[in-house]
Amino acid sequence: MLKDKTVVLGVTGGIAVYKSVDLVSRLKKEQANVEVIMTDGAKEFVTPLTFQTMSNNVVHHKMFSEITHYDVEHISLAKKADILVIAPATANIIGKIANGISDDLLSTVVMATKAQVVLVPAMNTVMYENPIVQENMSKLKKLGYEFVNPTSGLLACGDVGSGKMSEPAEILEYIKSYFVEKDLKGVNITITAGPTIEPLDPVRYLSNKSSGKMGYSIAKNAVDRGAVVNLITGPTKLTPPEGVNLIRVDTTLEMKDAVEKYFEATDVLIKSAAPSDYRPKNVADKKIKKKIDDNELTIDFIENPDIAAYFGKKKADKIMVGFAAETNDLIENASKKIDKKNLDFIVANDVTIKGAGFDGETNLVTIIDREKNRTDYPLMDKKDVAVIILDKVKDILKTKAR
Ligand code: PMT
Repeated sequence: MLKDKTVVLGVTGGIAVYKSVDLVSRLKKEQANVEVIMTDGAKEFVTPLTFQTMSNNVVHHKMFSEITHYDVEHISLAKKADILVIAPATANIIGKIANGISDDLLSTVVMATKAQVVLVPAMNTVMYENPIVQENMSKLKKLGYEFVNPTSGLLACGDVGSGKMSEPAEILEYIKSYFVEKDLKGVNITITAGPTIEPLDPVRYLSNKSSGKMGYSIAKNAVDRGAVVNLITGPTKLTPPEGVNLIRVDTTLEMKDAVEKYFEATDVLIKSAAPSDYRPKNVADKKIKKKIDDNELTIDFIENPDIAAYFGKKKADKIMVGFAAETNDLIENASKKIDKKNLDFIVANDVTIKGAGFDGETNLVTIIDREKNRTDYPLMDKKDVAVIILDKVKDILKTKAR
């Protein structure tokens, strides 16, 4: 993924430096070339040898080091960088950059580079919330510097609060996203994900096994590719991707209302959710009690709207993608849904097959288009299925633009 990319990693003096060692290791696994610049403060926590060993490169830490090769080091690093990430970024380096100070190798490279600079702050809560630090950060944001925000938690100083550096996996994800081609820039994509829940009484509901992973993967890839994304989600345990407009719903009726709200501005509607087809006719206002003299309970259900079919009728030149979760006659059943719901294509998954459908990290899908041409894909990660779906959307958008 990061082959042929040079990540210049600035490391400043904070205890979170140990996480940056892990970050270098992850970047190397993605085949990035990593050039580490350490400040004097960083060297108090970890030696350059650690980063040298992890990055397989000489570590840069002196502004005026003896010449080993005939180029000006700060200019050569600044030019070499495809992205410059500073992790951890202390209040000091943030302040220096915001005020145009370049008094060491790292701050000088920042000043000299045309690459995107990304700051990953890590500091004590009081420092992080200090108005001066906050002002410096908003100034830098306005100037186009990016931030991977810290999280809240137990800090090395014993305080609990914001200022904890993001985890290496998250920083790596950010770097990878940066290099994804922005081929869906400005396209408005609404995605439904996860299950819906239909209450029976104040403590019970009817739902299904959808985890939301398929829909969230599509949302993540769409954001990475520059789309404007509305993610309408039933209840899930997942962390939503950064940058989406997240709309949480419970019931199928609420999901339909949410789609209605965003439908007009939507270019592409992707229905990966598993909405309940029925809901209890009456929702008890008190917990349904166990009957003493009867061991049966009968609940009447009424049909929920078919959201895809409803919007399929109004779609005009919008693109609509549906899913079909089947337990038998996959192709036949999925093909019927294309016409019934007026879809551009459908992603069919047989949810009885191991590794396909609900909950897991993978899916096994067949894509069927309006002409009933089908393409079978091997078992793959849901993240890769998302790429295939959005590639197909891109192709349709191109055809429509002609
Ligand atoms: O969330 P995961 O755990 O990752 O699982 C992924 C998934 C199995 C949920 C996903 O891959 C999938 O198949 N989603 C569709 C599930 C479903 O409801 O299938 P269906 O065949 O019943 O519905 C067909 C289409 O109509 C779907 O696009 C569905 O979103 C839509 N629909 C269904 C019912 C309804 N009332 N309104 C709808 O819009």
